[in-house]
Amino acid sequence: MNVAVFSTKPYDEQFLVQANQDGHSHELVFFEPRLNAATVTLAKGFDAVCVFVNDQVDAAVLEQLAEGGTRAVALRCAGFNNVDLKTAQRLGIDVVRVPAYSPYAVAEHTVALMLTLNRQIHRAYHRIRDGNFALDGLLGFDLRGRTVGIVGTGQIGVEVVRIMRGFGCRVLCHDLHANPEAQQLGAEYVTLDTLFSQADIVSLHCPLTPDTHHLIDAAAVAKMKTGVMLINTSRGAIVDTAAIIEGLKSGQIGYLGLDVYEEEGDLFFEDLSNIVLKDDVFARLLTFPNVVITGHQAFFTRNALESIARTTLDNLTELESRGTCVNRVSASG
Ligand code: NAI
Repeated sequence: MNVAVFSTKPYDEQFLVQANQDGHSHELVFFEPRLNAATVTLAKGFDAVCVFVNDQVDAAVLEQLAEGGTRAVALRCAGFNNVDLKTAQRLGIDVVRVPAYSPYAVAEHTVALMLTLNRQIHRAYHRIRDGNFALDGLLGFDLRGRTVGIVGTGQIGVEVVRIMRGFGCRVLCHDLHANPEAQQLGAEYVTLDTLFSQADIVSLHCPLTPDTHHLIDAAAVAKMKTGVMLINTSRGAIVDTAAIIEGLKSGQIGYLGLDVYEEEGDLFFEDLSNIVLKDDVFARLLTFPNVVITGHQAFFTRNALESIARTTLDNLTELESRGTCVNRVSASG
């Protein structure tokens, strides 16, 4: 297939070109801009587009893709909340994704955020470089014996369960369906309210859906333990940012670790260091000493990028040869 790759960074090109040489013969054309209504004309005449988390594959873009002859959208990520699946289905455009690449990458980054916040590594780093060897303000707590609440125990959530059980934590889980692997690891399934009321650390690993949009709102924050640590490496809009800022100001939230942000589409993956930050909500988050934010990098390991590139091209090859694909996502689920 000839494929228009959007939101291309140098590492995307490197891993996709390598994977294409290792057993595929797609014609890949790389574009730096994101796919949206303004850039969709670049895709005209391409069989497929390859997109990432912040490309806007909404109804208007899909209509134009269909008009231009594009028959497939290949997501090089797991989440597909940025694609209007109903419109894609109506237009006969196949949507394929990479359901699993390295759950370990995201789970390990999740735990990196927990450890950084708990042991104040972000502050210690700057203090030491400034010749300040005082320990005041850096007091942490033992993870052993603490209760960790995992919302969503799919591939990533269960790896977080495994790691936290290794630390000697009690693990409470909430999901629409219990995962026997998490239970075998000694985790206990509870209601969301019980999880909120008992967890010292709440970590989010469910997808963004209409049901999980703003799952963590003011009411949820009020149900959590005072001083709770909240970690979101899933999707930004699962959390109501205004509510968590209030929670941070009141001390109800004691630590916040984010790899994703509701409005990240305007910020993440770009070097904006010479530009004035216009997002006042994000700017407020940056003022808290007990907040650590990374720019959607949880997936970003060599192993994950190799796997993403391989599966993305396998998906397109399978669509081309069989007319369908095991990693196809549809509006009906
Ligand atoms: P998965 O599909 O294996 O697991 C998701 C789990 O969430 C499933 O067990 C599902 O039943 C559960 N779930 C769905 N709705 C729920 C609800 N209302 N309440 C509680 N649980 C619910 O997905 P996986 O691979 O574990 O990924 C989870 C999410 O992580 C993805 O949807 C994506 O948004 C995010 N992600 C973030 C990355 C990053 O770099 N920060 C990279 C990869 C994924």
